[in-house]
Amino acid sequence: MTRSLIEARGLTRSFGPVHAVQGLDLDVHAGELVAFLGPNGAGKSTSLRMLTTLLAPTSGSATVAGCDIATDPAGVRRRIGYVGQGNGAGHQQRVVDELVGQGRAYGLSRAAARTRAAELLPALQLDALADRKVQTLSGGQRRRLDVALGLVHRPELLFLDEPSTGLDPQSRANLWEHVLRLRAERGMTIFLTTHYLEEADTMAERVLVMDAGRVVADDTADRLKSKHVGERVVVRAGSADGAARLAAAVGTQATDVTVTGTTMTARVDDGPATLPALLRAVPEVAVAAAEVRRATLDDVFLALTGRSLRETEAA
Ligand SMILES: Nc1ncnc2c1ncn2[C@@H]1O[C@H](COP(=O)(O)OP(=O)(O)OP(=O)(O)O)[C@@H](O)[C@H]1O
Ligand SMILES: [Mg+2]
Repeated sequence: MTRSLIEARGLTRSFGPVHAVQGLDLDVHAGELVAFLGPNGAGKSTSLRMLTTLLAPTSGSATVAGCDIATDPAGVRRRIGYVGQGNGAGHQQRVVDELVGQGRAYGLSRAAARTRAAELLPALQLDALADRKVQTLSGGQRRRLDVALGLVHRPELLFLDEPSTGLDPQSRANLWEHVLRLRAERGMTIFLTTHYLEEADTMAERVLVMDAGRVVADDTADRLKSKHVGERVVVRAGSADGAARLAAAVGTQATDVTVTGTTMTARVDDGPATLPALLRAVPEVAVAAAEVRRATLDDVFLALTGRSLRETEAA
């Protein structure tokens, strides 16, 4: 058994009439990279703020990095790094001074804080920016500095609240490259929130979906997709009659067979094997287009809540 780094039981937080987080149970093991997904207002940041001791729960309990959030918040803070969703107002400080100051705040000597800053600057590709004022950094540069600040005290567990929001695709990729490399080198446990479903899909070993204050799913992205959505074969026939024939032919290999106009959609276990077999079975049907559609995490969210995460986001 690997060690549990986060253990939350019934963690709840209300703000007056708003039930932001309702009974969060969570176990995260050492070395895991867990992503928290959910629409705006789902309760992700509130959960992170409780786990990082920035916000007191209304009820429930949690142990983070072996320390109780209620009785030993200082112990939690010493062992974790936290990169919040918003970053503070612009600073007049130089980048390097900001890092040294953070090291000092964690109790490092001036010399040790300088050494640590000198390690982190290249690790997050900030060396060329060391003497720049923080307020002059671009969004992506600032986010890399935020991550560096969260790593100053070599935490074993890092919380990242939307680390990549607002960054262009290249800066996002660049930030992830740094974070994943640090993780590989140091075996750090990472718990993050993101609105980029593909990020969660490709990087996280585990995905938690939160909706209206509750965790509605917790598994690997692949298992969530096959459990809640599955693969679909989608075939556009030349006619409605053709689509109906395809639906009849796919028969028992599929569940949820639908025909809309000239398009037949069927949920199957193994799309790449089913699709050619299906087309061979009805050679008389003219086919305009055919594809295997693999589920996305957005499909999972839709299946779980009846709403699309992308639409919820847009709203
Ligand atoms: N300090 C506060 N006072 C009052 N309500 C709050 C406070 N903080 C959060 N809330 C409310 O709690 C709910 C959950 O907010 P939270 O910030 O946790 O959502 P989130 O999942 O992080 O959303 P986003 O994706 O927009 O960051 C929301 O309805 C929010 O308005
Ligand atoms: Mg948030």
